[in-house]
Amino acid sequence: MKMNETVAVALNRQINSELNASYTYLSMAAYFDSIELPGFAAWFRGHSKEEIEHGMRIYDFIVKRDSRVELEGIDKPQLNFDSPTAALETALAKEKEVTAQINALFELAHEEKEYSTQNMLHWFLEEQIEEEDLFRSILEKVKAAEGNRWHMLVLDGELGKGIAN
Ligand SMILES: [Fe+2]
Ligand SMILES: [Fe+2]
Repeated sequence: MKMNETVAVALNRQINSELNASYTYLSMAAYFDSIELPGFAAWFRGHSKEEIEHGMRIYDFIVKRDSRVELEGIDKPQLNFDSPTAALETALAKEKEVTAQINALFELAHEEKEYSTQNMLHWFLEEQIEEEDLFRSILEKVKAAEGNRWHMLVLDGELGKGIAN
Protein backbone atom coordinates (compact mmCIF):
# COMPACT_ATOMS: atom_id res chain seq x y z
CA MET A 1 0.00 0.00 0.00
CA LYS A 2 1.30 3.42 -0.95
CA MET A 3 2.37 5.51 2.01
CA ASN A 4 0.32 8.27 3.54
CA GLU A 5 1.54 11.58 2.02
CA THR A 6 1.95 13.51 5.29
CA VAL A 7 4.02 10.67 6.71
CA ALA A 8 6.11 10.47 3.51
CA VAL A 9 6.94 14.19 3.80
CA ALA A 10 7.91 13.76 7.46
CA LEU A 11 10.08 10.72 6.69
CA ASN A 12 11.87 12.64 3.97
CA ARG A 13 12.54 15.37 6.51
CA GLN A 14 14.03 12.72 8.80
CA ILE A 15 16.41 11.52 6.05
CA ASN A 16 17.65 15.11 5.89
CA SER A 17 18.02 15.26 9.65
CA GLU A 18 20.08 12.04 9.73
CA LEU A 19 22.34 13.36 6.96
CA ASN A 20 22.72 16.66 8.81
CA ALA A 21 23.76 14.69 11.91
CA SER A 22 26.26 12.78 9.77
CA TYR A 23 27.76 16.04 8.53
CA THR A 24 27.86 17.50 12.06
CA TYR A 25 29.79 14.46 13.32
CA LEU A 26 32.17 14.60 10.38
CA SER A 27 32.87 18.23 11.28
CA MET A 28 33.52 17.13 14.86
CA ALA A 29 35.95 14.50 13.53
CA ALA A 30 37.79 17.27 11.69
CA TYR A 31 37.88 19.35 14.88
CA PHE A 32 39.41 16.44 16.85
CA ASP A 33 41.91 15.80 14.04
CA SER A 34 42.89 19.50 14.28
CA ILE A 35 43.69 19.19 18.01
CA GLU A 36 45.64 15.95 17.53
CA LEU A 37 43.15 13.54 19.05
CA PRO A 38 42.88 10.96 16.24
CA GLY A 39 41.00 8.41 18.36
CA PHE A 40 38.14 10.85 18.94
CA ALA A 41 38.29 11.74 15.26
CA ALA A 42 38.00 8.07 14.26
CA TRP A 43 35.09 7.61 16.66
CA PHE A 44 33.21 10.57 15.16
CA ARG A 45 33.99 9.43 11.62
CA GLY A 46 32.45 6.07 12.44
CA HIS A 47 29.45 7.79 13.89
CA SER A 48 29.12 9.99 10.84
CA LYS A 49 28.86 6.84 8.72
CA GLU A 50 26.22 5.38 11.01
CA GLU A 51 24.01 8.42 10.53
CA ILE A 52 24.17 7.97 6.75
CA GLU A 53 23.06 4.36 7.29
CA HIS A 54 20.13 5.64 9.38
CA GLY A 55 19.15 7.96 6.55
CA MET A 56 19.40 5.07 4.08
CA ARG A 57 17.17 2.88 6.23
CA ILE A 58 14.40 5.45 5.83
CA TYR A 59 15.28 5.95 2.15
CA ASP A 60 14.83 2.22 1.49
CA PHE A 61 11.58 2.16 3.44
CA ILE A 62 10.14 5.03 1.37
CA VAL A 63 11.13 3.29 -1.87
CA LYS A 64 9.62 -0.03 -0.76
CA ARG A 65 6.41 1.74 0.16
CA ASP A 66 6.14 3.01 -3.41
CA SER A 67 6.68 6.61 -2.37
CA ARG A 68 9.18 9.23 -3.51
CA VAL A 69 12.51 10.07 -1.88
CA GLU A 70 13.11 13.79 -1.98
CA LEU A 71 16.52 15.01 -0.86
CA GLU A 72 17.19 18.46 0.48
CA GLY A 73 20.26 20.59 1.23
CA ILE A 74 22.60 19.91 4.13
CA ASP A 75 23.38 22.79 6.50
CA LYS A 76 26.94 23.99 7.02
CA PRO A 77 28.06 22.34 10.28
CA GLN A 78 29.75 24.07 13.20
CA LEU A 79 33.50 24.32 12.52
CA ASN A 80 35.04 24.87 15.95
CA PHE A 81 34.32 24.01 19.56
CA ASP A 82 35.60 25.57 22.78
CA SER A 83 36.80 22.20 24.08
CA PRO A 84 36.33 18.44 23.63
CA THR A 85 33.69 18.62 26.38
CA ALA A 86 31.82 21.33 24.46
CA ALA A 87 31.92 19.19 21.30
CA LEU A 88 30.51 16.16 23.14
CA GLU A 89 27.83 18.31 24.77
CA THR A 90 26.79 19.55 21.33
CA ALA A 91 26.75 15.97 20.04
CA LEU A 92 24.58 14.74 22.92
CA ALA A 93 22.18 17.66 22.37
CA LYS A 94 21.98 16.64 18.70
CA GLU A 95 21.06 13.08 19.67
CA LYS A 96 18.35 14.34 22.02
CA GLU A 97 16.99 16.47 19.20
CA VAL A 98 16.86 13.40 16.94
CA THR A 99 15.09 11.41 19.69
CA ALA A 100 12.41 14.13 19.87
CA GLN A 101 12.04 13.98 16.07
CA ILE A 102 11.64 10.19 16.09
CA ASN A 103 9.05 10.47 18.87
CA ALA A 104 7.12 13.06 16.87
CA LEU A 105 7.31 10.85 13.76
CA PHE A 106 5.99 7.90 15.73
CA GLU A 107 3.09 9.99 16.98
CA LEU A 108 2.30 11.19 13.46
CA ALA A 109 2.44 7.63 12.11
CA HIS A 110 0.00 6.67 14.85
CA GLU A 111 -2.41 9.51 14.03
CA GLU A 112 -2.28 8.67 10.32
CA LYS A 113 -2.73 4.94 10.99
CA GLU A 114 0.60 4.20 9.27
CA TYR A 115 1.18 0.91 11.07
CA SER A 116 4.15 -0.31 9.06
CA THR A 117 5.87 3.05 9.56
CA GLN A 118 5.37 2.68 13.30
CA ASN A 119 6.90 -0.77 13.05
CA MET A 120 9.90 0.58 11.12
CA LEU A 121 10.33 3.36 13.70
CA HIS A 122 10.62 0.88 16.58
CA TRP A 123 14.20 0.28 15.48
CA PHE A 124 14.92 4.00 15.71
CA LEU A 125 13.32 4.31 19.15
CA GLU A 126 15.65 1.56 20.42
CA GLU A 127 18.63 3.05 18.62
CA GLN A 128 18.11 6.48 20.19
CA ILE A 129 18.19 4.98 23.69
CA GLU A 130 21.56 3.41 22.82
CA GLU A 131 22.88 6.57 21.18
CA GLU A 132 21.99 8.89 24.05
CA ASP A 133 23.46 6.46 26.56
CA LEU A 134 26.66 6.13 24.52
CA PHE A 135 27.16 9.86 23.99
CA ARG A 136 26.43 10.53 27.65
CA SER A 137 29.04 8.01 28.77
CA ILE A 138 31.71 9.46 26.44
CA LEU A 139 30.84 12.96 27.66
CA GLU A 140 31.35 11.85 31.28
CA LYS A 141 34.74 10.35 30.40
CA VAL A 142 35.83 13.50 28.56
CA LYS A 143 34.77 15.67 31.48
CA ALA A 144 36.84 13.50 33.81
CA ALA A 145 39.92 13.57 31.56
CA GLU A 146 39.82 17.15 30.29
CA GLY A 147 42.56 19.44 31.55
CA ASN A 148 45.08 16.62 31.72
CA ARG A 149 46.74 15.89 28.36
CA TRP A 150 47.91 12.45 29.41
CA HIS A 151 44.42 11.35 30.47
CA MET A 152 43.03 12.76 27.24
CA LEU A 153 45.58 10.76 25.22
CA VAL A 154 44.69 7.55 27.08
CA LEU A 155 40.98 8.13 26.41
CA ASP A 156 41.80 9.00 22.81
CA GLY A 157 43.63 5.69 22.45
CA GLU A 158 40.66 3.78 23.88
CA LEU A 159 38.18 5.54 21.59
CA GLY A 160 40.42 4.88 18.58
CA LYS A 161 40.51 1.17 19.40
CA GLY A 162 36.79 1.04 20.15
CA ILE A 163 37.35 0.18 23.82
CA ALA A 164 35.61 3.18 25.39
CA ASN A 165 32.36 2.89 23.44
FE1 LIG B 1 20.62 8.62 13.62
FE1 LIG C 1 22.78 9.19 16.22
